[in-house]
Amino acid sequence: MIPYFPEALTNFSKPENEAAFTAAFERVSSQLGQTCPLIVGGREIYTDQRQESRNPSNLEQIVGFVAQADKTIIDEAFQVASKTFTTWSQVRPEERAGYLFKAAAVIRRRKHEFSSWLLLEAGKTRAEADADTAECIDFLEYYGRQMLQLSERGKQTLISYPGEDNQLEYIPLGVGVVIPPWNFPLAIMAGMTAAAIVSGNTVLLKPASQTPVIAYRFYEVLKEVGLPDGVVNFVPGDADVIGDYMVDHVRTRFVTFTGSRDVGVRIYERASKVHAGQIWLKRVIAEMGGKDAIIVDEQADLDLAAQNIINSAFMFSGQKCSACSRVIAHEAIYQDLLDRVVEKTRALTIGDAVNANTQVGPVIDQKAYEKIKHYIEIGKQEGRLVCGGETWDKPGYFVSPTIFADVPADARISKEEIFGPVVAFTKVKTFSDAIAAANNTEFGLTGSVFTTNREHVEEARRTFHVGNLYFNRKSTGALVGVHPFGGFNMSGTDSKAGGPDYLLLFTQPKLSSEVL
Ligand code: NAD
Ligand code: ALA
Repeated sequence: MIPYFPEALTNFSKPENEAAFTAAFERVSSQLGQTCPLIVGGREIYTDQRQESRNPSNLEQIVGFVAQADKTIIDEAFQVASKTFTTWSQVRPEERAGYLFKAAAVIRRRKHEFSSWLLLEAGKTRAEADADTAECIDFLEYYGRQMLQLSERGKQTLISYPGEDNQLEYIPLGVGVVIPPWNFPLAIMAGMTAAAIVSGNTVLLKPASQTPVIAYRFYEVLKEVGLPDGVVNFVPGDADVIGDYMVDHVRTRFVTFTGSRDVGVRIYERASKVHAGQIWLKRVIAEMGGKDAIIVDEQADLDLAAQNIINSAFMFSGQKCSACSRVIAHEAIYQDLLDRVVEKTRALTIGDAVNANTQVGPVIDQKAYEKIKHYIEIGKQEGRLVCGGETWDKPGYFVSPTIFADVPADARISKEEIFGPVVAFTKVKTFSDAIAAANNTEFGLTGSVFTTNREHVEEARRTFHVGNLYFNRKSTGALVGVHPFGGFNMSGTDSKAGGPDYLLLFTQPKLSSEVL
């Protein structure tokens, strides 16, 4: 088997790639407005209640309609998933991994179509959509190979003992609930689902309500490659109606969640309750928010730092858990750095994600738009607005990249996740003060340090408490298998998506010992 290596990104400056993308986009555009059914045990279910999914760049454009699950359908899906688990859990790991490899091949072949759905449903620019699609392919390829390794691992790790045959097997858990976010609606949704099923579990997949159509397109690929019915049950629905119900359900063995701090905490608390008839403790894998800082030291390449701050803070309108929302700069270079970042920010092109030259697209929906506007008002009280601050909600939801200067490290915009294109600049006197300011939140997801000082590199490695720490590069863009991703404290349950330990979270080790 070819060793895993991350998928190459598309070079859109090549005319043949541009033409292939345009052709795919036209194909996808002709499929807008269709209705996606629920899928339980392979059965398509169309409900009276449908949810509309609209393009956040252009609210008049309906991307699709999606049937909505209620509690009765969720009960049915749990029954089907439990029954299917008895057979799927016995399927050989090689066969399970094979479905992931085939799905990766299909998505690779049609990658511009998937990216086009991401443009239209999530408001991603071409480059951002292409990276999301590539990461989806990576998760499928990587977790498939990880499962093959895990099935061998038990045999290799035990100490041999005379007169005994000892085996350690990583067996699946049972029926899981997959709850992904909208911001990587293909990659994270597919990665969480793929990790669960390749480990031998069956799942109920409830996509984020902002991006259900792209999730359905992924389900179609699983069907195309012959994944047995009932392994993935596709149950979009209103989280207020079915969210707690799925988490609380007596048949739920595990919940894999990626999303906000508050919903993650709620799921974690509710899943800890043992309900009548429940014979296990539920496992929760929660990957949550961030308040990620970039530290710029006195000795640093300021142009490199400025460009990477822009990329980390404003691409996809800052709607990444890994996005930079704080810059903590040494007083000796503070003003120079700020001037460079402001100048580059003013040159960014904002607009409809469909346009090839757009660098900053819309924010996802009205709720996000209102939240970001509210934090911009808070920022005006807490700091000095030096760039941006404008918002407009026609034809979609747009917020201009916004920078506040001279923000105290304990201000609300320095500590609370805004999830939009808003950055707070804080001035510090020493490198140690910079680390202390960076650690001064309840989160601990990503962080970057720009410095040429070796001692400061090592100091940050020891004391900057984040799951993904980067030096002299952006805080976003972790590559599957290369930069296992996940954070500390209120950023989640310390897991590492795209890392060598991730599948262990979806399995339980079983030891068998036979006297010979
Ligand atoms: P969210 O918490 O609003 O929603 C996430 C998912 O939870 C959605 O599918 C939603 O429908 C569902 N949900 C909402 N209420 C629920 C309930 N009571 N029970 C069960 N499910 C429920 O988050 P979001 O707005 O979709 O995503 C943005 C957030 O995700 C940000 O905080 C971001 O930092 C975080 N995120 C983290 C990572 C990571 O790897 N740590 C990656 C991407 C996004
Ligand atoms: N894994 C994504 C990144 O690193 C969230 O940006």
